[in-house]
This record gives sequence, C-alpha cells and structure tokens, in this order.
Amino acid sequence: MFNRIGVIGAGAMGRGIAQLFATSGQQVQLYDTRSEAIDEALAFNRKLLERSVAKGKLSQDELDAIMSRMQPATDLKEFKDCDLVIEAIVEILEVKQKVFGELEGIVRTDCVLATNTSSLSVTRIAAGCQNPERIAGFHFFNPVPLMKIVEVVRGARTDERYIQGLVELADKAGHFPAITPDTPGFLVNHAGRAFGTEALRMLSEGVATPQQIDRILRDGPGFRMGPFELFDLTGLDVSHAVMESVYEQFYHDPRYTPSFIAAQRVAAGLLGRKTGQGFYRYEDGQKIETA
Ligand code: NAI
Repeated sequence: MFNRIGVIGAGAMGRGIAQLFATSGQQVQLYDTRSEAIDEALAFNRKLLERSVAKGKLSQDELDAIMSRMQPATDLKEFKDCDLVIEAIVEILEVKQKVFGELEGIVRTDCVLATNTSSLSVTRIAAGCQNPERIAGFHFFNPVPLMKIVEVVRGARTDERYIQGLVELADKAGHFPAITPDTPGFLVNHAGRAFGTEALRMLSEGVATPQQIDRILRDGPGFRMGPFELFDLTGLDVSHAVMESVYEQFYHDPRYTPSFIAAQRVAAGLLGRKTGQGFYRYEDGQKIETA
C-alpha cells in the first residue's frame, strides 16, 4: 500500500522514521524547512548504520542500499507521488494544521497523511482538512529504530482501511502497532504522566533530586531510564508541550498539572541532550556530570 513515503521534519523523530522505512524497503523522501537539518539527519543515520556494519549486523551493500532509499527533498511539492506522508515537526497545533493544509494541495487524494504528534488531537489536526478520513496518528518513540512500538491513532473520522494499512506497514518494519483511540496522550503519554509529571512534582517539593529519582526508578522497578534521563533524551521542550497539551485536553484536571520547573528550564534552553544540558550535562552525546 505504501511504497513511497514522505517524512516532514528531519529532527530526532523524522530522521529515525526515515531510517526505519528505508531499512524496511520503502523509498523515503525527507523534508525540513532547515536544509541543514536534512544533511545532519542523513549523516546521523549513516553513522548509525556504519556502527551496524562494524558489528557485522549489516553488510556495506545493505548500508548503501538503505542510504540510497533516503532522499532529501528541497520542496514539499516533491511529495506529490507519495503514498504516505508522515509529519514529525514542531508540536504546535496551528503549525501542523498549516502543513497538512499545504500537503492536501500537493498529494493525491488517496495519499495517507499521518502525524507523529505525541499529544495533540489527531481529530483536531484533521479538522481543517478537506479529507479528514485519510489522516491518522502514527506515533513513534525515540530512538525510532530501537523502540519497536508505534501507536496507530484513530481520529474521529479516520477511515479504517488506512488504520489497517499503517498497521501492516509497521508490522513489516518490525514495529508492534498498538491501535489507540484519539484520547489525550493516547496510551503511552497518558500512562506516562505518572512517571514524568509526578517526578517533577517530587523535585519541586524537595522530596528528592533528579539523580535519586532516576536511580530509584531504574534500580527498583527496572525502568530502562529514569524520568529525568528520559526528559533529557526526549527534549524538555517536547515533554513540556506534551504535559501542557494533556492538561488542556483533560479540562485542567489537577492530576495532569504541568510543572513550573519544566516551563522555566525550557525558557532557559536547558532542553537535554540536544542543547548539551538538561537535568544532566552532555558532551558529544555522552552524559559527563550531573547538573
Ligand atoms: P525536533 O525539534 O528534533 O525536530 C523537528 C524538526 O522539524 C526540526 O528539524 C525543524 O526544523 C522541523 N520543522 C519545524 N517546523 C517545520 C515545518 N513547518 N516544515 C518542515 N519542517 C519543520 O523535534 P522531534 O523531537 O523530532 O519531534 C517532532 C514531533 O515528534 C513532535 O510532534 C513531537 O511531539 C513528536 N515526538 C517526539 C518524540 C521525542 O522523543 N522527541 C517522541 C514521539 C513523538
């Protein structure tokens, strides 16, 4: 169903989504308003694949074939022959709606438009579109090639055929597709409020430091990383936007109240790995000291 895939946004998520589908055999075009982001994404993906070659998990020929299936696009108009476009840009409803509106003027009417939104309503993103039935959520996790799960989000008007198409595509790429309704935070970011928002509340109440909370949650219940390590990996700008969005959509239910600590740190640019400092400090992507 989906042979040609367009990906919009070449950041942490877009680059991973591009690599996943190029590896599973699809032709992928990658677009970003910042052309340097596309170059960085392709260089980043090559480096990851080279590591797999060095470990003997991939041949050089396979690497070359995967890279040749990921092509940069300089204009959204180059997506006109795509069967599926996946949007992974900034988490702002109006910006996403604008991009979907623009896409509708470019792609065929049977091209499925998917959003990787973490927490915005798929139904609302689709609301301004001419064909809301071909819009669905396709929510991956960071880093995409390693996190082998994806939420396939059914908006209020999404056609079931397209949901099944996305399920098959995810399956083919080796990711477990969890179909979810379009509720605030879907499944993972709804359940995740207890992990992230509550950890920030503990920090603001002086109960424990980020280091203590991370360690306890890793060594006790066995999470792969603690909430503050996860904030740094995800980017606090992204996580805070999720917290605010879930809170708004649940009509300010106090259970989901976002943290002023997160708001302040976002304003200060302490976003995590991508800015070199979040709750921890990073150099060349490695954690170097506790902040
Ligand atoms: P990012 O900040 O790493 O990358 C976003 C990219 O989109 C940037 O390169 C930016 O130049 C580009 N961009 C912004 N506006 C654009 C536009 N109008 N047209 C084309 N390109 C544009 O962000 P990230 O982390 O990749 O997140 C992207 C989306 O994925 C967001 O909706 C986020 O909520 C979602 N998401 C993020 C996760 C994470 O762990 N970072 C996990 C799952 C979903």
